[in-house]
Amino acid sequence: MKSGAVAKAALAAEPSGSPTSALAIQNLSMRFETSEGPVTAVDDMSFDVPVGSFVSLIGPSGCGKSTVFNIVGGLLTGHAGSVRVGAETVAGPHRAIGMVFQEESTFPWRTVIDNVAFPLEISGIGRDERHEQARHFINMVGLHGFERRYPSELSGGMRQRVAIARTLAFQPSILLMDEPFAALDEQTRLLLGDKILQIQQDLKQTTMLITHNITEAVQLSDRIVVMTYRPGKVKRIIDVDLPRPRTSEVITSTAFGAYVAEVWNDLREEASRGMADAESASQMRPSRRS
Ligand SMILES: Nc1ncnc2c1ncn2[C@@H]1O[C@H](COP(=O)(O)OP(=O)(O)OP(=O)(O)O)[C@@H](O)[C@H]1O
Ligand SMILES: [Mg+2]
Repeated sequence: MKSGAVAKAALAAEPSGSPTSALAIQNLSMRFETSEGPVTAVDDMSFDVPVGSFVSLIGPSGCGKSTVFNIVGGLLTGHAGSVRVGAETVAGPHRAIGMVFQEESTFPWRTVIDNVAFPLEISGIGRDERHEQARHFINMVGLHGFERRYPSELSGGMRQRVAIARTLAFQPSILLMDEPFAALDEQTRLLLGDKILQIQQDLKQTTMLITHNITEAVQLSDRIVVMTYRPGKVKRIIDVDLPRPRTSEVITSTAFGAYVAEVWNDLREEASRGMADAESASQMRPSRRS
């Protein structure tokens, strides 16, 4: 692979908060007080999510990805540094931001259509109107025909699509997703990735995805922010110059493989540090055998 084949930006050094940023994360740090002393989960992270772009944050388990997700979504406070949506500093949930969580988050007692229509219902929109709008988002995630089903009658991938459709029904200008496909098999993950790409193309929505899956990050992103293992810092920012519109077919291309190798080169060292940390922690634990 030629080194010029992959466009790269330098370590966290790009100017943050330009007028084209939907999200500007500047000098973000977060420290937790735990029974074993303070833990710095996130350390001086800065990066931008340009309007209409798809940015992935990737790093090994425990590196601080969900901490960043929760701070950006306004669910966690006590951080240093700032998160801005346009000109506004995030200080609590922001109306422009919609969140999709890793855990199952559909309402089991509601049908698909009533799950997706929920945000419209709390906005006071009447039943017929909200169902019509909900159908639009249900079609968008490819669940046409399943409107009257309950979540328990769907597969895990379909339930995640319901959760995504419900978040889209809020019509957020920025979509945050924390490992939404982590529990899914590789094929479903790739096909759901196609749906996400299609939606992003249709809505021109700014998206920030948290993931530990390299294939997924390269398949979907315009930009990948690679994090170090604990404390989470920006290790490198990689701009992904693969053609759009994209589909999962892109994974067969040579350029795709080059990006995957590039990201793995950066992540390997961090993942090894995480593994060594976990091993030494398990050795320090008292043995159950006497
Ligand atoms: N509320 C909390 N109190 C104390 N420590 C916390 C808290 N939340 C997170 N941490 C610690 O901060 C670090 C980063 O956690 P975080 O959940 O952000 O990691 P992650 O990258 O999302 O991991 P994973 O990939 O496993 O989801 C970890 O060491 C974790 O134990
Ligand atoms: Mg997490």
